[in-house]
Amino acid sequence: PAPTKIKLRDAVKTRGTRVKIFGWVQRISRIGKRLMFVIIRDGSGFLLCVMKNKLCQTYDALTLATEAAICVFGVISQVSEGKTVPDNHEMAVDFWEVIGASPAGGAKKLLNEEAHPDVQLDNRHMMLRGENTAKIMKMRSVVTHCFREHFFSRGYFELQPPTLVQCQVEGGSTLFKVDYFGEEAYLTQSSQLYLETVMPSMGDVFCMAQSYRAEVSRTHRNLAEYSHVEAECPFINFDELMDKIEDLVCDVVDRVLKSPFGNIVYELNPDFKAPKKPFRRMEYKSAVAWLRKNKITKDNGTLCKYGEDIPETPERIMTDTFNEPILLFRLPSKVKSFYAQRCQDRRRLTESVDLLMPNVGEIVGGSMRIWQQEELEEGFKRKGINTENYYWYIDQRKYGTCPHGGYGLGLERFLCWLLNRYRIREVVPYPRFIGRCTP
Ligand code: 4AD
Ligand code: MG
Repeated sequence: PAPTKIKLRDAVKTRGTRVKIFGWVQRISRIGKRLMFVIIRDGSGFLLCVMKNKLCQTYDALTLATEAAICVFGVISQVSEGKTVPDNHEMAVDFWEVIGASPAGGAKKLLNEEAHPDVQLDNRHMMLRGENTAKIMKMRSVVTHCFREHFFSRGYFELQPPTLVQCQVEGGSTLFKVDYFGEEAYLTQSSQLYLETVMPSMGDVFCMAQSYRAEVSRTHRNLAEYSHVEAECPFINFDELMDKIEDLVCDVVDRVLKSPFGNIVYELNPDFKAPKKPFRRMEYKSAVAWLRKNKITKDNGTLCKYGEDIPETPERIMTDTFNEPILLFRLPSKVKSFYAQRCQDRRRLTESVDLLMPNVGEIVGGSMRIWQQEELEEGFKRKGINTENYYWYIDQRKYGTCPHGGYGLGLERFLCWLLNRYRIREVVPYPRFIGRCTP
């Protein structure tokens, strides 16, 4: 009978029968003239292929290089004792052929984890084949899936918002301008405003879309394009919003760890500890007081002032000192966007919250939204925003407005935290930041 074509994830099930597998060559070792070991991978697993005698003496065998695509036929068994190979399978190959050759010497030059970071970025298309990078990209896929599962399990619907827009959400300074058939448009900074419009028809909603920020400084945690997980919920109060953020993070971590790929988290981040509810909740004013008391300064050497934004460095030092998730809440309206709802008791503060994580800093930003039309229009005025393009957003306050709130989580920042990566560009397939748009 013709051998069945299988993927390596099914190798255990089919041990003992003759199968056919397609994959890419990860490593080759030739032992004398009569024996060759080739490790292949197919994205779902690894296999040690043992080729003997004639099978390793052909022209194809002598010129085989890493990263070539090949097809092997044979019977898979558990790897014999004394050999350590990924996944512990080996195949006694009885026939094989080259599908797509690779140049002599393989892809060593292009796939070199030791190379200069810029060289690695130029060769990102090949670096993605590397073992660690592949693990990170697989976790990205698993985590994305778990976010969706979380929202669907809680009864949310998913929306696909536009990314070409004519409104700013998070301030004019990080807008990417686009020539849109002669009109001025932007790449979206956040899909929040669009999520708000569908609450009256869809209820609790979420989206996972690309957001764009024209960040002019190269930092280890900012990208020009990132994946933004956003949610919006009608008829909630501020405490419920904070509970939802806590639930999101704990539940997604739980789902990832319980998935068949949970072990990869520990392979990449051996010290990972799942966060526990309730998170520490810290008012903005206590954070400023804490920073001042501990003399933790900004990059320019001065102390943080009440009423101003807490910059990245002091925020990081504070979070790393507490070494646990912090829900930083009630930030001043001066540092928040036009839409942030003010606190009833302190009109200069807002019902806003950032979730800070050790080693990364802010991974979530959220708030209650101003839901009265007049107050919203004041908000626009305060920030100097021309409301012409926001008529549709203002309409939400005319037709059945309601108290509501939501948040945005940076998928890459979440991954940096979960997988303990310092540089955010490690967790994106093709990072975009100033000076880099290729490949
Ligand atoms: O705090 P931000 O700017 O909030 C908003 O965009 C809200 N409109 C979201 C909402 O309420 N629906 O961004 C939210 C999160 C941040 O906490 C951070 O994790 C991530 O998006 N983020 C970035 N990630 C990578 N690179 C950048 N340049 C980022 N800017 C924000
Ligand atoms: Mg923010």
